[in-house]
Amino acid sequence: DIVRKPIIAGNWKMNKTLAEAEEFVQAVKNNIPANDVVDAVVGAPNIFTQKLVEWTEGTDLKVAAQNSYFEDEGAFTGETSPKALADLGTDYVIIGHSERRDIFGETDEEVNKKAHAVFNHKMLPIICVGESLDQREAGETNEWVSGQVKAALEGLTAEQVKELVLAYEPIWAIGTGKTATSEQANDTIKVIRETVQELYDEETAEAVRIQYGGSVKPDNIAELLDQSDIDGALVGGASLEADSFLKLLEAAD
Ligand code: G3P
Repeated sequence: DIVRKPIIAGNWKMNKTLAEAEEFVQAVKNNIPANDVVDAVVGAPNIFTQKLVEWTEGTDLKVAAQNSYFEDEGAFTGETSPKALADLGTDYVIIGHSERRDIFGETDEEVNKKAHAVFNHKMLPIICVGESLDQREAGETNEWVSGQVKAALEGLTAEQVKELVLAYEPIWAIGTGKTATSEQANDTIKVIRETVQELYDEETAEAVRIQYGGSVKPDNIAELLDQSDIDGALVGGASLEADSFLKLLEAAD
């Protein structure tokens, strides 16, 4: 049996000043569990990425960017190049968050191009998928989420898929205080794993780590991580305070 190492990633979204980011990192970086037990990642706004990499050097705290473009350079005003992110020492890039898809119109095709670009620069993507409340109520969740996974992984090798991270974030549970029940989350994550098996093989499906995201807090994370197929969490609100982030990591320890 493959043992999948849990991965807990904070997604600060568009929050914090540089001083607040530094305060967080100083409070956290030497207190996280060893990375043979759990992978700890913080997704700061891209403007802070360089500093985060500096501050966390030599520690087990890894750094994620929250988005990247898929071209390396050129006339793309306001975008962030994956080449530049890699050059800074970025470890992970969050791709296809529902806020990127819904507010900024990111398509499945762009998410896929971004995933390739992130790999081309030797970083790892955390690829987000998830359904809206309407879709869940209409019984379309499995089909929708599995379609997003297929589109996102198009053209990636099995070796790459074993390395990347998928994050299942039901849109109705993000920032709403409404967590999917651990069974609901696990059921959909199983569907995602089955989709990976259909596209690749059992070994790849067993290896890929799939996080849950959506109102994860220190008091509900243990129950989520207890589920058979949930390999970690992508956390917004509860990742903003150092104490709370450390509690999330302890739950995975
Ligand atoms: O990417 C994490 C996220 O969208 C969940 O946010 O605040 O519900 O934990 P939150």
